[in-house]
Amino acid sequence: MDKLTGLKKIKTVVFISGTGSNLKNIIKFSKIKKSPISIDLIISNTNKAKGLRFADQFNIKKKIFNFKNFRNSEKKILILLKKDKIKFICLAGFMKILSKNFINKFDEKIINIHPSLLPKYKGLNTHSRAINNKDKFAGCTVHYVTAKLDSGKMILQKKVKITTRDNPASLAKKVLKLEHKLYPAAILKILN
Ligand code: GRF
Repeated sequence: MDKLTGLKKIKTVVFISGTGSNLKNIIKFSKIKKSPISIDLIISNTNKAKGLRFADQFNIKKKIFNFKNFRNSEKKILILLKKDKIKFICLAGFMKILSKNFINKFDEKIINIHPSLLPKYKGLNTHSRAINNKDKFAGCTVHYVTAKLDSGKMILQKKVKITTRDNPASLAKKVLKLEHKLYPAAILKILN
């Protein structure tokens, strides 16, 4: 139940590893009436993730699992998600690759945002790779998560021009702005 609107929403966890700007954006989106999700839990693989501060700011439960013992962390997370009745998972800058076993338990209920025009540039350093290849466009993609990295079915994609003045940092900034539009739009597309 959403505290503000009294509407029943899908309980959702966001997984992060870093700054959490997408997390913050998804939390804000979750609070509007038309959002089909509520953010009830934030999971990080490190206590150094700056984004964890949004848990305190928005009064959301947070948990850290270090993934040193991968199977054990995933097992504990699955127990927690069950206990908290979490039905949907958003990965947002989460730097660990979840196992097939874990992903299969949430079939089509785990989505991720990736800062490239997939299927181009799976993995890391997407912006420098796009610039080095003299691409005309960069962008971002929200996709379902499967066991194969950055390869699940696409939900939405948005592109932006790469100019001659762009460097990886400026491009990352531009793409991040797009990401903040795209993630909520993708959630609405598949859950409404
Ligand atoms: C984003 O560019 C996202 O696409 C990528 O990691 C970055 C995370 O940024 N997977 P933030 O932590 O949401 O600010």
